[in-house]
Amino acid sequence: MSASAAPRPHVSSPIDAVQGSARTPGDKSMSHRALIFGALAIRETNVSGLLEGDDVLRTAAAMRALGAEVERTGEGCWRVRGRGVGGLSEPADVIDLGNAGTGARLIAGVLAGHPFTSFITGDASLRKRPMARVRVPLERMGARFLSRTGDRLPMAITGAARPLPIEYTLPVASAQVKSAVMLCGLMAPGETTVIEPEPTRDHTENMLRHFGGVVTVKDGPKGGRIVTVAGDAELVGRDVVVPGDPSSAAFLVVAAAARPGSDLRVEGVGMNPLRTGLFTTLRDMGADIAVENERLEGGEPVADLRVRGARLRGVEVPPERAPSMIDEYPILAVAAACAEGETVMQGVHELRVKESDRLAAVAAGLEANGIAHRATDDSLTVIGCNGRPPGGGKVETHLDHRIAMSFLVLGMLSEKPVGIDDVGMIDTSFPGFVVLMNGLGARIGAVA
Ligand code: S3P
Repeated sequence: MSASAAPRPHVSSPIDAVQGSARTPGDKSMSHRALIFGALAIRETNVSGLLEGDDVLRTAAAMRALGAEVERTGEGCWRVRGRGVGGLSEPADVIDLGNAGTGARLIAGVLAGHPFTSFITGDASLRKRPMARVRVPLERMGARFLSRTGDRLPMAITGAARPLPIEYTLPVASAQVKSAVMLCGLMAPGETTVIEPEPTRDHTENMLRHFGGVVTVKDGPKGGRIVTVAGDAELVGRDVVVPGDPSSAAFLVVAAAARPGSDLRVEGVGMNPLRTGLFTTLRDMGADIAVENERLEGGEPVADLRVRGARLRGVEVPPERAPSMIDEYPILAVAAACAEGETVMQGVHELRVKESDRLAAVAAGLEANGIAHRATDDSLTVIGCNGRPPGGGKVETHLDHRIAMSFLVLGMLSEKPVGIDDVGMIDTSFPGFVVLMNGLGARIGAVA
């Protein structure tokens, strides 16, 4: 989807219950990484279950522009023939990462370790997002950056011929920044260490090992982690099975969990413990979520979720849970709107720099739909309606797929329909969302 495509407003009408079973698309974080590691490996990587959303397709195109062979061999199946660590070549044109913060930041790490100049940009949402968080450590490793005011894209990166291995303490809990430094560290002589204040998703660590990289993880101070990656790495192409994205399953799970009478099965959901904070929180709220058929697929835990609707109650979400559910606060706010009592979410300042300022966008959406709430710079409290929220509002999505999907779910659970200004950007992470939801009982349609 491009920022210039005509907006497609949609409205979601109240329903009685969600019924049926579904699979969600492949995990976005793992899909980006599978393509990137495939491109940095020698020999062939075959990925199945890849998310074929715009964000990931941009990463595929970027890897191709950098000299890897990337081809689609079937539905969700992709083959990558890589160039080896440090073996990518100068792209002939600007690399456009669309809406994808993960793509932009991880690829910045890759480019910082290659001795040529490349230019990266993105859509109107991505061009507002901060890049200093990757520029600062990658400059310490020897790369040079030129960017717009406030470290915004477009940005030029001249990579280091021989990046320096560094030790870096993350100023914010960010798997993207950790991964950017680790990726550049693959090209450095010696060990690169990232100290994270709180554990963030560890797909880079897991997948790097899968490709033959050497990674050690130790407990750090105050519950954090110390992650070390060996440089001068040699990665070898592997098969990667990408599980269903728990962050996408979240929308289905909340739609069913908050509507008594619902009965939904979501199959093949990735259950990496650093991703499942929302499911824990929903259970604390009284949701009926059974985890069935637990298994390991491609080294990651996977399960089917059986969700039955229930009455929910408000809870306080511990701030240290934030990294394991950072993308799920907008949909949690929707669950909270249906619950009895207050749900307090603290330590969520990072929401301000996602695909939109999600704290502001969620607060505005709640306001438009008659749901009482309080927002501060880094917290959100939702005062639940103990049943159906009023609804009836129109929500601005600000090119943010998760705001769009969250408020379409709100429409299913409210007394009156909820409108959103655009569905186009949902394709970045969840192609087919509207059709899938309607198949489970939703009534979501285009506004003429
Ligand atoms: C991601 C990390 C998170 C998350 C994003 C995907 C990743 O961002 O919000 O959707 O794949 O590493 P931060 O690392 O900036 O928290």
